[in-house]
Amino acid sequence: MIELPVDKSIAQRCAILGLDFNKDTIGEDIKSTLKAAKEFSESDEKIVLDLGNSGTGMRLLTGYIAGTGKECILKGDTSLSSRPMDRIADPLNSMGAKIRLRADRYAPIDISKSSLKGNFEFTLNIPSAQIKSCMLLAALTSQSKIEITEIIPSRDHTERILEECGADITRKENKIIFDGRKKIQKKFIDIPTDFSSAAYLLAANLLTNKSIILENVGVNPTRIAFLNTLEEMGAIVSLKNKSSKSNEPRADIMVNCEQELKGVEIYGDKIPNLIDEIPLIGTLAMFATGKTTIRDAKELRHKESDRISLLLSNIKKFNPNTTINEYDDGFDIIPELNESNSPVEIETKGDHRIAMSFMIASLKDKKKIYIDDKRCVETSFPNFFELLKKWYQ
Ligand code: S3P
Repeated sequence: MIELPVDKSIAQRCAILGLDFNKDTIGEDIKSTLKAAKEFSESDEKIVLDLGNSGTGMRLLTGYIAGTGKECILKGDTSLSSRPMDRIADPLNSMGAKIRLRADRYAPIDISKSSLKGNFEFTLNIPSAQIKSCMLLAALTSQSKIEITEIIPSRDHTERILEECGADITRKENKIIFDGRKKIQKKFIDIPTDFSSAAYLLAANLLTNKSIILENVGVNPTRIAFLNTLEEMGAIVSLKNKSSKSNEPRADIMVNCEQELKGVEIYGDKIPNLIDEIPLIGTLAMFATGKTTIRDAKELRHKESDRISLLLSNIKKFNPNTTINEYDDGFDIIPELNESNSPVEIETKGDHRIAMSFMIASLKDKKKIYIDDKRCVETSFPNFFELLKKWYQ
C-alpha cells in the first residue's frame, strides 16, 4: 500500500483547534502549525510565532488569535513574507481586531489586544477557504456570530470540523451562519490522505501506464475537480470503498488511460476546487494533444510562488517547442513534440508544487531533470521521492 500524507488542510485546522489527529505522515506545514499553535496556547506573553512556508497556518492562526483578544506576532519564510495578508487583516480589523502589517500588506503580522464585534456579516469576494476559515475561527474564539456569503464555493473543511465538533453552524445555499458562543467538543479527527498529494501519483500512473490504487484518499467534493479534469483529458477514473469518517468522505482511487491525453479548458467556478492541482495540469498538458487553457486563476500568482510565471518558464525549458500564451489570470499551452532530450534544470523558488509537478513530468520518457531545491517537497509530501523511486522509477 502507498502511504500518502494526511490531508494538510484538515490537519492544520485540527492543529489550531487543538484537536488530536492521525500523524503518521505529516509535512513541514503541519509541523510548523502544530508548533505555533502549541506555543500560543502555552504563553501569556506577546510571543513571535514562525509559520515557515505555510499560508494556511498563518492566515487561519491569525483569525484564531485575533478572536482571543490576545497579542502576538506571526512571521514566515521569504515566500510567505511576500504573500498578501491584507486579505485577512482588513476584514478582521473591520470586525474590531487591531492588526498591523508590513507595508500594509505583508507579514510579519502584528496583532494587538482587542475585542471583536459580537455580530458580523462578511462577503467573501476572493474565493479563498483561507480567508473564510480565518473569519470563522475569529468568530469562534471571540464567541461572536458571523454570517458569511460565498460567491464561489471554496473548500469546506473548517465548516465540516466545526459541524463534527458540535458547533452551532448552519449552511444554506451560499451562506454560512456560525454562532461562536456555543463551545465545541474536543474530538479525535480521523483525517484521510491528502487528495492534492494523491493527484501527483494519479498523474504518475497515467504517464507511466501503471494502475496503482491509492487508498483512503480524501474525496471532499470541494477538492476533487481534478478528477473531472483527468476524465476530460481522456482518463478513466474509478472510486471504490467510499466511506465517511470525522465528517470527511474518502475513497480508494484508481485511474488509467487507453488513449492519448487531450487538452482541456478550465475556468470560472471550477478554479478554487482544483487551484493546487493547476501546476500539475500544466505539466500534464505538455503530453496532451491539443491546447490546454486555464483562465480565472489569478490567485495562482499569490501562492508559494507566482505559479503562472514559474510554471510557464519551466515548461519552456522542459520543451522549448511548446507554444505558451501567458495571461494575467492564466495561460494556454499548445504542446509540440520535444526533439531535445538534454537535461533541464527546474527552478522551484522553494515551491513544493512546482518541484513535484515537474518530477512527475520527468517520468514520461525518463527525461533527465535537476530540481534546484528538492527539499521543498517536505512542505506537504515528505515521502514523495521515496514513493516515486519505489513505485514509478
Ligand atoms: C487552503 C486553501 C487554498 C489552497 C491552500 C490550502 C486551505 O488557498 O491553495 O493550499 O487549507 O484552506 P486559498 O483558499 O487561499 O485559495
